[in-house]
Amino acid sequence: MTDFAGRLRLGVNIDHVATVRNARGSAYPCPLRAAKLAQEAGADGITAHLREDRRHISDADIDGLMETLTLPLNFEMAATGEMQAIALRHKPHAVCIVPEKREERTTEGGLDVARDDNRLAAFIAPLREAGCRVSMFIGADEAQVTASARIGAQVVELHTGHYCDLHAEGRLAERDEELARLREMTAYAHSLGLEVHAGHGLTYETVQPIAAFPEVMELNIGHFLIAEALFKGLAPAITEMRRLMDEARGLPAQ
Ligand code: PXP
Repeated sequence: MTDFAGRLRLGVNIDHVATVRNARGSAYPCPLRAAKLAQEAGADGITAHLREDRRHISDADIDGLMETLTLPLNFEMAATGEMQAIALRHKPHAVCIVPEKREERTTEGGLDVARDDNRLAAFIAPLREAGCRVSMFIGADEAQVTASARIGAQVVELHTGHYCDLHAEGRLAERDEELARLREMTAYAHSLGLEVHAGHGLTYETVQPIAAFPEVMELNIGHFLIAEALFKGLAPAITEMRRLMDEARGLPAQ
């Protein structure tokens, strides 16, 4: 684990390697191969989301990652009995609980931990007992941070999607307000003893202000890296993201 305000961990999300594979029902490109390449390029962890509808990552992908990956796996999952059983079978390093709606294109918002706290507390207890670090994927909202700490999560991952969307739409004043909320909630979560991660929608343009928050320990980034890999290859795409993260942290280039 990274020291506070030291080098940020980069979790590379490989879901969209599987999206391309599944678009043709072929055996390639292989998410496992991407995970190995990501490791060589400096990823500190691999993130994969086994969705209820299996639209990208498959059960076999998770089996393969658990069998061969030497990096920690951050297993993203909805709070369902099926996913809990899979996580308890594999005991990945980390489990990130995300909201899931069938009709959404991606994980659009954060989890409502505050509304569902009793159920989520009971849901995550066996995962913690199995040794998984449990993370809640939430928006920059005080009630959600407080509830995540209350139910016993060790980690919160703050959803950066809204900040990235506002940036892409050129709504810069609103973007900066969202950035300020993310900043404040990062500090607040840290003050409650939670480890803070962030992710969703991050690109070379949006990563540095988030990476500069000293309490953030890990960023999880996928879609942009896989898209960028089309043009420059996966390893160079990751290397550049790593460089930007280190630069934002005031660390020398490696
Ligand atoms: N973190 C979480 C919890 C996510 O659900 C996702 C998307 O699967 C990501 C990070 C990565 O988002 P993106 O693919 O937009 O970089």
